[in-house]
Amino acid sequence: METIEYYINAFNTYLEKNVETKDPYQLYDPMVYIMGIGGKRIRPALTLMTTSLFDKDYKAALSAAMAIEVFHNFSLVHDDIMDEAPLRRGKETVHKKWDINTGILSGDAMLISSYQLLEHYEGKNFKNMVQLFSKTAIEVCEGQQYDMDFEIRDDVTLAEYLKMIEFKTAVLLAAAIKMGAMVAEASDEDQDLLYEFGRNLGIAFQLQDDYLDAFGNPETFGKQNGGDIIENKKTFLYLKTKELCNSDELKELDHLFSIKPADPTAKIRIVKDLFESSGAAKESKRAIADYTQMAFEQLDKLAISEEKKLNLRNFGKHLIHREH
Ligand code: IPE
Ligand code: IPE
Ligand code: MG
Ligand code: MG
Ligand code: MG
Repeated sequence: METIEYYINAFNTYLEKNVETKDPYQLYDPMVYIMGIGGKRIRPALTLMTTSLFDKDYKAALSAAMAIEVFHNFSLVHDDIMDEAPLRRGKETVHKKWDINTGILSGDAMLISSYQLLEHYEGKNFKNMVQLFSKTAIEVCEGQQYDMDFEIRDDVTLAEYLKMIEFKTAVLLAAAIKMGAMVAEASDEDQDLLYEFGRNLGIAFQLQDDYLDAFGNPETFGKQNGGDIIENKKTFLYLKTKELCNSDELKELDHLFSIKPADPTAKIRIVKDLFESSGAAKESKRAIADYTQMAFEQLDKLAISEEKKLNLRNFGKHLIHREH
């Protein structure tokens, strides 16, 4: 078993050979574009890495890894339409470079392609993988719906937020890992432990994404700075600030999160200051560390060597310190 970088490279090599455009170009060019402008590839790399955890050749998991990454990229194309996002991975989003209809249909084709990639598998594995994939895909839709609903609600609770990010983000990381374990025909118990590892790590991952949306370096993060503030997203930072700030600050925050000014510069600055002065930014860092720790605790019970567990832990630590 190798470190995560090895599987990222292996996946990227496979992707370069297997993703190409064709007629009708308006349908497939955006797919090649979005898959080609970068991305950390953490989900597919986790699929491959998990297969090798159980001493099976990672190459057997390449189709599953590709299915996960194509699905992820489909979700980004539609997410960027829904979030009115201009930038993705430091480049124009699909609906900005082309138009919204192109983003919708190319996204649809990517979703279907992701299922087709699972046709590579047979028998019990095929059935289990499709079941997991469908369960995950519908949960991502539910999470995305909550995310949209919350934009116009002002009474979202922390528990609701956590459920929302579990669905929109964490279950896909968890499924990516579990698929790797399925390919290797790991025991049900190990599959479940790895799923829980991925789910907790996925929650930490989305908390970190929300943190970076406000405080990350726009150059490395590759998305519009303050995009969540512009869209009135009810993130952990916002919910904690509401809990911790004084009544005058609360009034101001409530007001700012009920408007969408044409020039959002002042709104972003004031909200970011409140996120920090209230202590919410610090609390967010703590929550990220807590969920990462909960992920690591799942590994204790896993029936693999300590050396292999260390690779998974190092990957988790690397996620906490990421800048994009
Ligand atoms: C972005 O995912 C969407 C979230 C769930 C936060 P990534 O941060 O993995 O995006 P890429 O694929 O590396 O660009
Ligand atoms: C990502 O949520 C969830 C999905 C794409 C399903 P975000 O909206 O926070 O992701 P980014 O920040 O645009 O990558
Ligand atoms: Mg978004
Ligand atoms: Mg979104
Ligand atoms: Mg985000």
